[in-house]
Amino acid sequence: MIGADALAQREGWNGWLGGGTPLGDTMMVKVLGSAAGGGFPQANCNCRNCADVRAGKPGLIPRTQSSLAVTGDGERWVLLNASPDIRQQIAATPTLAPRPDGGARSSPIAAVALTNADVDHVTGLLSLREGLSFTLYASARVLDTLAANSIFNVLSPRHVARMALPLGRPMEVAGGLAIRAYPVPGKVALYLEDANRGLVAGEGDGIGLEVSEPATGAAFHYIPGCAGVDAALAQRLAGARLVLFDGTLYTDDEMITRGLSDKSGQRMGHISMSGPLGSMAAFAALDVERRIYVHINNSNPVLRDDSPERADVQRAGWEIAYDGMEIGL
Ligand code: MLT
Ligand code: MN
Ligand code: ZN
Repeated sequence: MIGADALAQREGWNGWLGGGTPLGDTMMVKVLGSAAGGGFPQANCNCRNCADVRAGKPGLIPRTQSSLAVTGDGERWVLLNASPDIRQQIAATPTLAPRPDGGARSSPIAAVALTNADVDHVTGLLSLREGLSFTLYASARVLDTLAANSIFNVLSPRHVARMALPLGRPMEVAGGLAIRAYPVPGKVALYLEDANRGLVAGEGDGIGLEVSEPATGAAFHYIPGCAGVDAALAQRLAGARLVLFDGTLYTDDEMITRGLSDKSGQRMGHISMSGPLGSMAAFAALDVERRIYVHINNSNPVLRDDSPERADVQRAGWEIAYDGMEIGL
């Protein structure tokens, strides 16, 4: 883990921004968007959280939708999920701007890896269509879904190679990084909940990503959608240095009790933070050094700095991601 001073120097690190030293041997994770689908505030939502953040009340900050960026060399970045807010996220992130010396078309975004085919994770791809060359990684199952939706043909094969992530084996991606995809409990994307596919996830519908930098051994896990921590997942995460994990809901029925939806977290394929089957309980014995909630729904009380729920998750050793959060490994 790098200290606050090193983090503070970061903005000057990339040679083309500040003339500093390249990142070299440090992997860097940036949270582009920390909210779940809909963002915070959500356009049509009048819940207390959304109303208060809209009104600028202290103790709540706006958040864009679910995405991370990661780099090993400080020059080439891999996006983990492509949210509908991607244009705004790139604009807010100087390290993702074109290099001044990069020619007429240039971007440090070398690859995008997806954890599922959910709207909040794939629609940003449509904003990467302006002739940007990158490699798109996803499970074979998610690639099939994209192939079946012809709007994604705007990503021409001349610019965008689509590569299936094998499950269980690491695959080298850009910038000295490798990604190992693995299945996690979940469900198919909402728009695929039809008679053919049903609710139950097939292999690859929802995956976790272990991103590593083989040269240094640094690694972290990214799991923004997960219905539960089973024995296989617990074993995989035990002893990890860093896990960014599904923080959609605090309680399984919070959307129902707030009159926002008729669906429970379990019905949506999301584990809750609290409760005997929740993520705080599941991680209690896993010895994960740093655990950070991402994909936080606007209904979640942990979004309020002064809430007892926020105090609870902090006591359990969790951090709440925010847009722009940087984590060095
Ligand atoms: C989810 O996280 O459950 C999905 O993003 C929901 C949706 O597609 O709106
Ligand atoms: Mn989502
Ligand atoms: Zn809301």
